Amino acid sequence: MTQVPVTYELIKEEKHTGARLGILHTPHGSFPTPMYMPVGTLATVKSLSPEELKEMGAGVILSNTYHLWLRPGEDIVQDAGGLHKFMNWDQGILTDSGGFQVFSLSDNRKLTEEGVHFRSHLDGSKLFLSPEKAIQIQTALGSDIMMSLDECPPFYESYDYVKNSINRTTRWAERGLKAQENTKDQVIFGIMQGAGYKDLRIQHAKDMAALDFPGYSVGGLSVGESKEEMNEVLDYLTPYMPANKPRYLMGVGSPDALIDGAIRGIDMFDCVLATRIARNGSCMTSHGRLVVKNAKYARDYTPIDDHCDCYTCRNYSRAYVRHLFHANESFGLRLASIHNTHFLLNLMKQVRQAIMDDNLLDFRQDFFERYGYNKP
Ligand code: GUN
Ligand code: ZN
Repeated sequence: MTQVPVTYELIKEEKHTGARLGILHTPHGSFPTPMYMPVGTLATVKSLSPEELKEMGAGVILSNTYHLWLRPGEDIVQDAGGLHKFMNWDQGILTDSGGFQVFSLSDNRKLTEEGVHFRSHLDGSKLFLSPEKAIQIQTALGSDIMMSLDECPPFYESYDYVKNSINRTTRWAERGLKAQENTKDQVIFGIMQGAGYKDLRIQHAKDMAALDFPGYSVGGLSVGESKEEMNEVLDYLTPYMPANKPRYLMGVGSPDALIDGAIRGIDMFDCVLATRIARNGSCMTSHGRLVVKNAKYARDYTPIDDHCDCYTCRNYSRAYVRHLFHANESFGLRLASIHNTHFLLNLMKQVRQAIMDDNLLDFRQDFFERYGYNKP
């Protein structure tokens, strides 16, 4: 048996939900699950240093094949000694395969059985991404967890289109696995698609599970469907995802979706939301969203969130952070990014504790009430 470099250890299942407490072991350390992964698309979690991320308890971050391929180029990262060394991050790194980003960012896309032809969003140059190429780039980057190339069809795409699409994604997954052969320290996760069609979701879950990836991602959610639709897909899908392997819900990271995903047995999440809204002066707090730029905080000398013990909340006031935003000082968006990232990491810590204590549904109810999710 070859040693699998990334393994999932199940610690405990919550009594009243599908939630699981676990540990994901990687060649760059282990982290507890369910876990939120901050997004470092361009080999940096925007405005945060690795030391700050570590202090907040981030044991893994996500980065992007598409972006690093285009800039600076995976060869430059490889010659630096790999992505961990390049960005001075010695914990886990997961990279997305690029397909999703090609579809959301590039121009003139053409999808074929072979892969995707497109033009770079940076300089318009012609490029081609295949399942093999996606693995080659991620191998060069040296991420601990690579994603196989997938197509993410829109949630309301036609049945026939999605049916063809999932079958192609399965063939791409097989090709990605074949292209991997020589990488000893990296694993590939397979991505399960199927839009909003129950039979296709289940079919694809079974087809992908048969390929025996060491972990599985749920793709094609949080793409415009309602929260109820997303939860419904997870309800029927997760029972078909191998229980002894980690489950990663891609691109999902609003506080309610993290809790509702964990309840349905999801172990890993990523989302740009925390750092993106921080740069607009919007903060997540235990009492809901707070737009720190607002005039009403001009003389508010309390922390952004009185329940938060992040660096920002321990040391600075709403009035100060508001002032920085108004003066266009970059420290303001750094302080807001620190707070929001800490908020989601801490939320997952509370979720893990609630799984331990078998009271996740009570935790959900309290959190939703305080955050204002249950208001009409
Ligand atoms: N990020 C968010 N959703 C998706 C998806 O469906 N596929 C991939 N590759 N990345 C994603
Ligand atoms: Zn804070």
